[in-house]
Amino acid sequence: MKVGIIGTGKVGSAIGGALASKGYEVIYGSRNPQQAKVPQGTKAATPKEAASQADVVIMAVPYSAVKDAIKEAGKDSFKGKTVIDVTNPLGKDMDWAVGFKTSSAEEMAKEMKGANVVKAFNTVFAEHMAVGNINGEKLGLFIASDSEDAKKTAREFGEKIGFDVIDAGKLEASRYLEALGILNIHLGYKQNMGSKMGFKVVR
Ligand SMILES: NC(=O)c1ccc[n+]([C@@H]2O[C@H](COP(=O)([O-])OP(=O)(O)OC[C@H]3O[C@@H](n4cnc5c(N)ncnc54)[C@H](OP(=O)(O)O)[C@@H]3O)[C@@H](O)[C@H]2O)c1
Repeated sequence: MKVGIIGTGKVGSAIGGALASKGYEVIYGSRNPQQAKVPQGTKAATPKEAASQADVVIMAVPYSAVKDAIKEAGKDSFKGKTVIDVTNPLGKDMDWAVGFKTSSAEEMAKEMKGANVVKAFNTVFAEHMAVGNINGEKLGLFIASDSEDAKKTAREFGEKIGFDVIDAGKLEASRYLEALGILNIHLGYKQNMGSKMGFKVVR
């Protein structure tokens, strides 16, 4: 399976490096593919090349850059594909940019007509994304989508990395996952707990 990752930052690098180490072919879509530093065993191309060649795309750009990134990759490049949305809708001062009546994931799905968007990874700090645990304790990976196929892929990635994957339901539940992602940031950086923390579900 060929995985296209739009964005070569902290999240893109962590997930892409982990997936490459599990045997997936990973191709990054970068605004500067020549200069991009990408994990071993992966390659960099333009966003359009990465998105159109990939079977599954991971959108790992800042919330404020999503619309431009989709345009650059070409809306049609996502048609019929699973798109994993990791974004947290942060505005200025790390506040909440979308409100309670929608979510970054739902807006992304509207923007990319015909893509199967699944929310995942947004509630985890990037430094834990490649391993899925803190000190051996599995972190929860919440997934939400209207597409069972997309959820299956997100689950496969999460479980291969080592997370405890939790199905949160339809894409609309991204509203709760994004609130949880922002709580994570709030606790880590505004309440000074630091980033060596994460969420799990005790059953
Ligand atoms: N960091 C975390 O712990 C964390 C955790 C959960 C979710 N998230 C979410 O994951 C997404 C990526 O976060 P990140 O920490 O990986 O961010 P980052 O380190 O800043 O990387 C974002 C990447 O997006 C690409 N990009 C495309 N358009 C851009 C633009 N206009 N401005 C800046 N970068 C642009 C860049 O790659 P190229 O230069 O190669 O194009 C850049 O390296 C965000 O939506 C964030 O909310 C982050």
